[in-house]
Amino acid sequence: MKNRMWGGRFSEGPDSIMAEINASIDFDRKLYRQDIQGSKAHARMLAQQGIIGADDAEKIEAGLDTILREIEAGQFTFSRELEDIHMNVESRLTALIGPAAGRLHTARSRNDQVATDLKLWVRDALDGVDEALRDLQAALVEKALDHAGTVMPGFTHLQTAQPVTLGHHLLAYVEMAGRDRGRFSDARARLNESPLGAAALAGTSFPIDREATAADLGFDRPAANSLDAVSDRDFAIEAVSAAALCATHLSRLAEELVLWASAQFGFIKLSDRFSTGSSIMPQKRNPDAAELMRAKTGRIAGSLTALLMIMKGLPLAYSKDMQEDKEQVFDAFESLGLSIAAATGMIRDLTPNTAAMRKAAGGGYSTATDLADWLVRSLAMPFREAHHVTGTIVAMAASRGVSLQRLTLEDLQSVEPRINAEARSFLDVDASVMSRTSLGGTAPGNVRREAKRWLKRLEREAAARTT
Ligand code: ARG
Repeated sequence: MKNRMWGGRFSEGPDSIMAEINASIDFDRKLYRQDIQGSKAHARMLAQQGIIGADDAEKIEAGLDTILREIEAGQFTFSRELEDIHMNVESRLTALIGPAAGRLHTARSRNDQVATDLKLWVRDALDGVDEALRDLQAALVEKALDHAGTVMPGFTHLQTAQPVTLGHHLLAYVEMAGRDRGRFSDARARLNESPLGAAALAGTSFPIDREATAADLGFDRPAANSLDAVSDRDFAIEAVSAAALCATHLSRLAEELVLWASAQFGFIKLSDRFSTGSSIMPQKRNPDAAELMRAKTGRIAGSLTALLMIMKGLPLAYSKDMQEDKEQVFDAFESLGLSIAAATGMIRDLTPNTAAMRKAAGGGYSTATDLADWLVRSLAMPFREAHHVTGTIVAMAASRGVSLQRLTLEDLQSVEPRINAEARSFLDVDASVMSRTSLGGTAPGNVRREAKRWLKRLEREAAARTT
């Protein structure tokens, strides 16, 4: 059967393989709301400009509203013969209102239509991610405030380095999420130009008003160049790129949750709501959500690579290659949304084992730097020499298999006779974190101040959203 939408110059219908490779309706039906929104704006503009009659525009808008209701109620029959969401909607519109439907596509092409639809979809997705990340930040900040003074080991190379506070550690992720939100918001600002009215590639001879449709759809302005407008997918690539980096951050958090929940670390207990059991080992509590969050990062980064490769080398303007952009964008944002929600839930619910964290914080000679710093401060020793002296003391403790705190004053003095009782107090993990008051340091006072600053900012943002 010839295609009803574009089959005029064809005598045969498509091969079944052609139909199969060409149809996008199975995935681009997700764009139905944006497609209808764009078409309504276009129809209104056409009538305002006297390009179509006001009565036809009214019929078109009413018909599109009916279609929206039908789709949302699950009463719409999508057809693969009609290829994509644009032609599925238009065909139904024809069935509903007759010939007036045929006027909707005046001064428009599926090329500017699909670019507009996808931009609107990505813009909504970016707004959703921003809100989700704000929730994640709130969960992290609240936990951080509860645990501003909870001592845990800080790591470099995953080797015990220096004691830090759990609050400080959690706030590091708040900073990352803050930068992610900045990137999403930059992408949104650059995205916000309307492709509608670029038509197939060259613009149109009809006296359209692109400013009007741009404003109607909440865009800041129309895109300036029609060739660019229909062939630009930067907005999708930028959004998914920001998503990939955000997911990379989430994968680091996920990895830490997996490690911390293990019997070997024992730093946290994940709630039942975010753990699963094993079908054979009754003792198991598996951190599946964190593991999946870690894995989704691979999918999202894969989508970014796919998008870049789809766009690579495409001549101007539109090519059907671009139809393949949608699944990547949808999958990336669906995966990211799930990951952020899982992270938020896990953080909210988790219970830290503060005793285990404190015990581990004291292991691995974590306060050796504090002793070296004391030697520098109190004995005016050059730091390199202090490092060497402390190294000798650590070796002594290691050879006896004890912690630094277990060495007596006499032991310490056998390496450096000027060490006194005060120096020993610097080997304590609480004293260590309390002393780290430099800007951005882990001292509980700093953490409390930072957490409160974030809390205020997040509350302000939440209030701004609801007004
Ligand atoms: N389904 C198509 C897409 O997603 C719509 C644009 C088709 N344009 C064309 N000239 N065949 O890209």
